[in-house]
Amino acid sequence: MTQILEAKDISKIYPSGEDTVTALNHLSLSFEAGKITAIVGPSGSGKSTLLNLLAGFDRPSSGSVKHQSTDITTMPETLLATYRLAHFGFIFQNYNLISILNAQENVEMPLSLAGVPRAKRSATAIEILKRVGLAKRSTHYPNQLSGGEQQRVAIARALATNPSVLFADEPTGNLDTSTGKGILELLTEPMEGSQHRTLILITHDMEVAARADTIVRIRDGALEA
Ligand SMILES: Nc1ncnc2c1ncn2[C@@H]1O[C@H](COP(=O)(O)OP(=O)(O)O)[C@@H](O)[C@H]1O
Ligand SMILES: [Mg+2]
Repeated sequence: MTQILEAKDISKIYPSGEDTVTALNHLSLSFEAGKITAIVGPSGSGKSTLLNLLAGFDRPSSGSVKHQSTDITTMPETLLATYRLAHFGFIFQNYNLISILNAQENVEMPLSLAGVPRAKRSATAIEILKRVGLAKRSTHYPNQLSGGEQQRVAIARALATNPSVLFADEPTGNLDTSTGKGILELLTEPMEGSQHRTLILITHDMEVAARADTIVRIRDGALEA
């Protein structure tokens, strides 16, 4: 068992007018490589905050997050952006595709940022779009795609850089049950060589959570006993 990601005693306090909100309260948690972890808990319990800290989108008020042996908490912002691009993939509830780019261009985006040459970028994007069942939609723009198709493009985009950890914040939250099922199958399917990708996903759906190797329950910014 290899530990890939570790949050140590993290807290997150947001300013809120004159006041503050404690979104996470001294939480510690670690993740095994190749496992699926489902994060569940009531709305407002700190799930998205936790995922954003783990993925290096935001920084904890105190405590640290380590990926493999690298502490990402103290990394300067420009380095962190490069690090995220190299190691992490993120899937949002609202897909977050770029509306003026077509499906293939959306998938190529992280590869462009990583400096991958045009020909390689295009070949990779086409290959991954095929894998998510969208080979015939590569020139479609987000507004010409259904919700499920948009989420497939978003998954292809997240997978394009072959990340070691894939994060998903309620990826099926805007989809009907059967479309959501297809998306989950895509997210949880084994990689080549039957090794699983490390997947950390937030879900409201207990059926989804039941497919995870580990369920983490959060309440009021802390792990539920
Ligand atoms: N950027 C922010 N500024 C201020 N408060 C925030 C911010 N983001 C989240 N919060 C607050 O932190 C708490 C946890 O939010 P969140 O992590 O989004 O919960 P969940 O994803 O479990 O619904 C909530 O009380 C929320 O209102
Ligand atoms: Mg949330």
